[in-house]
Amino acid sequence: MNQDQYLTLEQLVGNTPLVRLQRLPGEVGTPRGNVILGKMEGNNPAGSVKDRPALSMILEAEKRGDIKPGDTLIEATSGNTGIALAMVAAMRGYKMILIMPDNLSLERRASMTAYGAELILTPADQGGMEYARDLATKMQSEGKGIVLDQFANPDNPLAHFKTTGPEIWSQTAGRVTHFVSAMGTTGTIMGTSKFLKFMNPNVQIVGAQPAEGSQIPGIRKWPQAYLPKIYDATRVDRFELIEQSDAETMARRLAAEEGICAGVSAAGALVAALRVAAEVRDSTIVFIVCDRGDRYLSTGIFNQ
Ligand SMILES: Cc1ncc(COP(=O)(O)O)c(C=O)c1O
Repeated sequence: MNQDQYLTLEQLVGNTPLVRLQRLPGEVGTPRGNVILGKMEGNNPAGSVKDRPALSMILEAEKRGDIKPGDTLIEATSGNTGIALAMVAAMRGYKMILIMPDNLSLERRASMTAYGAELILTPADQGGMEYARDLATKMQSEGKGIVLDQFANPDNPLAHFKTTGPEIWSQTAGRVTHFVSAMGTTGTIMGTSKFLKFMNPNVQIVGAQPAEGSQIPGIRKWPQAYLPKIYDATRVDRFELIEQSDAETMARRLAAEEGICAGVSAAGALVAALRVAAEVRDSTIVFIVCDRGDRYLSTGIFNQ
């Protein structure tokens, strides 16, 4: 029997569907000749766009000989990256330690421990993610494991340069005119922008960020001093600030009017995509649907 004829879970990361919205765009869609397409990253095995960089950071480090199965990996992360890293670590035989503030939803913690990761909870009132990140660095310096650091690791955007970008290019047959992504580590927008602009420098890259005072899980408007090391401002043409309430309303509409139950950052990217659509004609606008909405059910955002 040739076992290679069957795919492993690893081979199912990426190659996500691109879905055309039918009702939500309304007047800014078909009447203006615009098509709005969602890249369904929630279809990845661990449920988010983060499966791509998690796999990339581990495989590339293996290729360089920096890590080998059996080693211990450490990451300070409170969200999708933790879940994705826990899955990839399980898949490839690593021990995964995830460090996060103790005010995180039980739902998220349970997803990570289900994949066998060890969680270290840090006191949220002592500095949140910054405290968690400092502890990860300290543990690495004490020889307790290797930190991948998604904010500074070039293998994060590389995943999107190698996969997300080429997929969007081929799925639109090179017709994509605008690419919209919410920005967290900025890995998605950096890598995808690099590829799409290489293929066609006229493709417009739009970054969605939370407006002042708005909390949207997974994304941040970084103060200058905290900008991720992988971020390069020249790769983004336009920024859109998104109010939390607008993103949450759009998440409900996306589920109820299109049947796409997605997270709030994905809905924020759609708010930005619709703003762009209102200004252009005959355009093919792709936005990233970062994860699925069921990851947010306990927050109550779909109950209103
Ligand atoms: C829900 C969600 N949306 C958006 C993003 C942003 O992706 P990136 O880190 O590639 O900028 C993340 C990243 O963690 C996320 O978890």
